[in-house]
Amino acid sequence: MREAGHDVRVVPTESALKFVGAPTWEALSGHPVQAEVWQDVDQVPHVALGRWADLVIVAPATANLLARAAAGLADDLLTNTLLTATCPVLLAPAMHTEMWLNAATQANVATLRSRGVQVIEPAVGRLTGADSGPGRLPEPEDLFALVAGTIGSGPLAGRRVVVSAGGTREPIDPVRFLGNRSSGLQGVAIAAEAVRQGAEVTLVAAHIGAPVPPGVAVVTVETAADLLEAMRDASQDADVVVMTAAVADFRPDVVREGKIKKVDGVDPAPITLVQNPDVLVDLVERRTPGQVIVGFAAETAADDEALVDLARTKLARKGCDLLVANDVGQGRVFGHEGTRALVLDGNGAVIADVAGSKADLAVRLLAAVADRLHAS
Ligand code: CTP
Repeated sequence: MREAGHDVRVVPTESALKFVGAPTWEALSGHPVQAEVWQDVDQVPHVALGRWADLVIVAPATANLLARAAAGLADDLLTNTLLTATCPVLLAPAMHTEMWLNAATQANVATLRSRGVQVIEPAVGRLTGADSGPGRLPEPEDLFALVAGTIGSGPLAGRRVVVSAGGTREPIDPVRFLGNRSSGLQGVAIAAEAVRQGAEVTLVAAHIGAPVPPGVAVVTVETAADLLEAMRDASQDADVVVMTAAVADFRPDVVREGKIKKVDGVDPAPITLVQNPDVLVDLVERRTPGQVIVGFAAETAADDEALVDLARTKLARKGCDLLVANDVGQGRVFGHEGTRALVLDGNGAVIADVAGSKADLAVRLLAAVADRLHAS
């Protein structure tokens, strides 16, 4: 938070100081640190801190802290601060799964949420012992993203960003579908980065293989038709629309009501495919003034020159403001953490060449998006 330019005061509990001592907090925050109310009384710290803060985050929030906050106790500086704060309050619970799922904890969480406190769902994963499950503290960068989103700092502060991700499925019968290899990782990385940069983010998710990042609103869809409807809806008041989803270009002309049965020695009737609407083209046609629309191009190209040629042709067909061209041949990109992509502007000029993680591409892409938002 300090690296991002924020002034940070640390208010540990007595228990927190058993894990990390006051000198560490003082050096990191650049401010004196105290846990109880009987120090520097002339400055009335039990009221001053809550009044001063633009946001309070308790991370990790133990089961005990949740109980004290829900009961409105004021028995140390932190709980006093929670009672006097009128700014947004985020609590990031971290505890063993049994404690998190205990009815008392869940009731405390419900009480706090009903009062407008944002209690973040804990992550699922390895806990302090050998056990794992829900109860893990979310990663620091996810908490940072939530804070940035809540106080509206960052280059995309106050902007609405809609990202589609994953691969649509077109039903053949109640059991089978036509699908594709998209994992949704790139769209999820863009959604996470947009939150980190202060945007209000909606993810329209078609079968994604990654958890939805904290702070992102999600709309789940199945088919290309569902995705079209959800994207039209979410894009109406969006500043930025990013189409990473792999939308099925074709669907079976009819969806069989019953399962297509196997008959020994008889080949099934052929399945006739019909074309789906092009969601990106549709959104470009409906583009609102100043809205920035980003398309992706999944191509198999012999080299970069061929990739750029294919991307330019696609750009002309789609009419978006930025196009990210991925070479997806030979098992590259789909389902992998890493990516290689060229970013083209609306005139077809290559403005970035990214080889790195999908998060790296998200950063580069959103920088190009922010430039266009500020230019308009
Ligand atoms: N797209 C879309 N609706 C479709 C197909 C694609 O909105 N029915 C979007 C994708 O989300 C992506 C861009 O269009 O942002 C390009 O997708 P891609 O699959 O690379 O291109 P296609 O238009 O399907 O063309 P082709 O398969 O011939 O390369």
